[in-house]
Amino acid sequence: MAGFVGAQHEFHDAAFVQGWADRFVPTAPRLALFDLILEQIGQPGLPNAHVLELGLGPGYMARHILERNAIISYEGLDFSEVFFEVAKNTVGASMPRVTLTKADLMDQTWPATISRQPAAIISTWALHDLGSQQAVADVYARCYEILPEGGMLINGDFIKPDGTAWTYEPGRFETARHLDFMRRAGFKNPMLLACYETNTDSPTAAQNYACMIAVR
Ligand SMILES: C[S@@+](CC[C@H](N)C(=O)[O-])C[C@H]1O[C@@H](n2cnc3c(N)ncnc32)[C@H](O)[C@@H]1O
Repeated sequence: MAGFVGAQHEFHDAAFVQGWADRFVPTAPRLALFDLILEQIGQPGLPNAHVLELGLGPGYMARHILERNAIISYEGLDFSEVFFEVAKNTVGASMPRVTLTKADLMDQTWPATISRQPAAIISTWALHDLGSQQAVADVYARCYEILPEGGMLINGDFIKPDGTAWTYEPGRFETARHLDFMRRAGFKNPMLLACYETNTDSPTAAQNYACMIAVR
């Protein structure tokens, strides 16, 4: 069997966003991805304690991380005001540690909008929505420019699993291509840390995501 894997979103429509956020409440494997990212950004030796998330969305990862790491400051970048309102509710009491930054990741000047230099840039289930491999490669290049020496980029996103006969929307592509784009951006030794909910034969749009890390 083969088919198409992809999804359509209306990220600026309040009713769509709230319904989507309600359906996207983190499951056990999604929480495992958050824990992996939490562990990475908690490692000693990072140049500072500021974390930038690309595509804050409803704030599920932000809440998970802020409730478990008392030290970091957090910046959530998104192009949707509607998602900021949802994220404020999700993050709740930790909001004083969060800066909300409105920017479009397709606009290559987005780095000028962030509040300060982060030591870690993280993202989950967001970059595939930029719609092409080139757009993701551009984000990796901007991240390399932003991060200090020793800073880390961690992307947990929907990918196209190896060996599938299915067609995937252009923003979902193989982990080897992601690592290649990280390398081309200048990162040393990019690595695949984990794959989640792998399903090559009968995938849904909510399965097949991976966590990739690179250090500047
Ligand atoms: C799936 S949500 C992220 C979920 C989030 N990581 C969490 O754990 O709650 C994806 C987010 O990426 C944002 N996004 C999509 N395209 C974008 C773009 N071009 N610029 C900035 N944000 C974008 C959407 O508005 C949405 O809020």
